[in-house]
Amino acid sequence: MSAVASSVASCARASAARVPSRRGGYAARLGVGAKSARGASVVPAAFTPAGAKIAGVGMELPSQSLTNEDLAALVDTNDEWIRTRTGIGKRHVISGDESLTSLAAGAAKKALAMANVDAKDVDVIILATSSPDDAFGSACTVQAEIGASGALAYDLTAACSGFVVGLVNGVHFLRGGEYEHVLVIGADVLSRYVDWRDRGTCILFGDGAGACVLSKVTDPNDCCLLGFDMHSDGTGNGNLTAAFTSESQVCGTAKPTSTSDGAASGVGSFANIAMNGQEVFKFAVRTVPDTLTKSLDKAGVSSEEIDHLVLHQANQRIIDGAAKKFGLGKEKVVSNIEKYGNTSAGSVPIAMAEAVAEGRIKQGDIVATAGFGAGLTWASAILRW
Ligand code: ACO
Repeated sequence: MSAVASSVASCARASAARVPSRRGGYAARLGVGAKSARGASVVPAAFTPAGAKIAGVGMELPSQSLTNEDLAALVDTNDEWIRTRTGIGKRHVISGDESLTSLAAGAAKKALAMANVDAKDVDVIILATSSPDDAFGSACTVQAEIGASGALAYDLTAACSGFVVGLVNGVHFLRGGEYEHVLVIGADVLSRYVDWRDRGTCILFGDGAGACVLSKVTDPNDCCLLGFDMHSDGTGNGNLTAAFTSESQVCGTAKPTSTSDGAASGVGSFANIAMNGQEVFKFAVRTVPDTLTKSLDKAGVSSEEIDHLVLHQANQRIIDGAAKKFGLGKEKVVSNIEKYGNTSAGSVPIAMAEAVAEGRIKQGDIVATAGFGAGLTWASAILRW
């Protein structure tokens, strides 16, 4: 049995262990919940474990782009420095009517079209973003825009790891057997938070969105997620922030001290992105190979079996370092950082969608993916496409 087949088999065994027994499912086996508060028998919900597949992907970018030369007109930098240190040549930024919602909805519509899934049949929308159009989140406006009227829609904030975390969440919704289709979107418009006077950060970020439709498969043995690994470390939070900041002392405190007009008009916002680049770089170089190794181990997949490495597009040197560590040649590395820069939660799904559109990622391929960034957060997954 190949490593991949053995991993699928172990996935199936784990699912089988979760099948409710004839003697009464989860509640009875746990010895809880067999009676309601009124003493009547309670029949636990019947969960029928299922598999999951990636049914469609899509991406959307703003119409306007900024080249390295454009930035050299704003700050003391140059094309050669940016390309050598990061691999970035240009990035897209929103303008006019474009918004986080419009990008996310555009990517979602393309993913649904590829999956041949009607928006009305989507059960859950997970929008991974750190830059919603509204502090309460943008998943619901995306839901409205695409007409997914039957879905629960919510935002997930895990910075550049957000899409991978959302993908793992989405697959688990399906594996529980309750849902048919989950739409996972990774989207960010960090140009809103970039300090265009700071050459250490403004050269890095671009805006964009990618989306993926996950669909239920009846056979629990058939699962696109072979292994995953996810972590956070809040002690490193200060290395990458866009912190809440308030205009007045009143705003941001729990209890207003007066009901004057001044108190009512206190407005809060988020500061520009502040990053300790070298620390984040060291964090990424350390954690990406580590988390991928853990996911590969859990999946029972060897690094030789990886067909495509799709990492968060933060710096070409980080991508190259990880590829070298696993002995992967250029032909196995998906990189579009030159064209789009770091699109935060958008970068992994954009890279996946583009690689699928180019015919690189095909059905049955093994894809190793990882995201990392603010939080600090990092996450990886081994997927069978
Ligand atoms: N143009 C020209 N010179 C520059 C620029 C620039 N844009 N930026 C910095 N420099 C200068 C510095 O001032 C410094 O000059 P000095 O030696 O005279 O002091 C020199 O270049 C080297 O600066 P470093 O900060 O050491 O450059 P480094 O090689 O570390 O590259 C970079 C900086 C690209 C930011 C890198 O540290 C990096 O990629 N870090 C990781 C970022 C990342 O991965 N973020 C992911 C998370 S994103 C998220 O979660 C939202």
